[in-house]
Amino acid sequence: MFSVHKKIALITGAASGIGLAVARRLASAGASIIAVDLNGSEALAATGADFRSADVSCEETMAALFAQIKQDYGQLDILINNAGIAVDEPELSQLSLSLFERVMRVNVEGVLLGLRYGAPLMAEGGRIINTASLAAFVTVPAYSAYAVSKAAVVKLSQQAAIELGPRGITVNAVCPGTTRTPMEPGDSGEAKLCQRATALGRIGEVADLAGVYHFLASPEAAYISGQAICVDGGWLHGAPAALLDLIEE
Ligand SMILES: NC(=O)c1ccc[n+]([C@@H]2O[C@H](COP(=O)([O-])OP(=O)(O)OC[C@H]3O[C@@H](n4cnc5c(N)ncnc54)[C@H](O)[C@@H]3O)[C@@H](O)[C@H]2O)c1
Repeated sequence: MFSVHKKIALITGAASGIGLAVARRLASAGASIIAVDLNGSEALAATGADFRSADVSCEETMAALFAQIKQDYGQLDILINNAGIAVDEPELSQLSLSLFERVMRVNVEGVLLGLRYGAPLMAEGGRIINTASLAAFVTVPAYSAYAVSKAAVVKLSQQAAIELGPRGITVNAVCPGTTRTPMEPGDSGEAKLCQRATALGRIGEVADLAGVYHFLASPEAAYISGQAICVDGGWLHGAPAALLDLIEE
């Protein structure tokens, strides 16, 4: 069940956090991993992944990367567009266009380029998974560039699902809630809010996510496409007592 044995999986942002956890998970399930990131990491090297250094936001680099992958592997079975950034943002009234564009370049254009150059290499019945965020649906003040970028990733995933469906390729977005990684060490204001606002009363761990990617990459997920799957401990669906208690405090 859920076999990805001998499948070829390319994962961006694989040197750290969620991408690294997914690389480990798929490698341990027998997939061959092509790991793409700006720089490698010791932990990534330990997975045995084939590391390729690339900036996902640079079209020339992405075109060359996928051309090389085609030469080296022929085709891809699984493509995970996961690389992303979060930056300190001011509220909208202070948001500079340059900061907005910086976030868009990596989070949106990086996924777009992954789809643009990766989709032609996908085998029939392939699986594409894009990492969006719960921020596509639930946002907090001073988070607009990130939230807009992740809403765009959800929409790009739906668009790609429609266009690639005739080739039997599924495309889904995973939307993590606050998850402990180097991007979110777990002691931020958002992490504290998450503990109160989330039905399960805690932030997520990468182990909460890796299995979701594994499932979506597997044959058992063949009829799931165009979905935005929130792995958020229940945050999307309302305020638990722990949050309401704050009103009393
Ligand atoms: N951690 C969270 O709370 C959380 C929540 C929702 C969504 N996400 C999303 O999950 C994804 C992974 O984030 P993470 O938490 O594992 O963070 P992370 O910082 O640990 O990992 C992100 C990886 O992406 C790489 N990367 C960044 N810009 C790149 C570029 N231009 N080209 C290639 N690689 C690049 C980084 O080098 C890093 O290895 C991101 O898309 C992020 O937005 C994270």
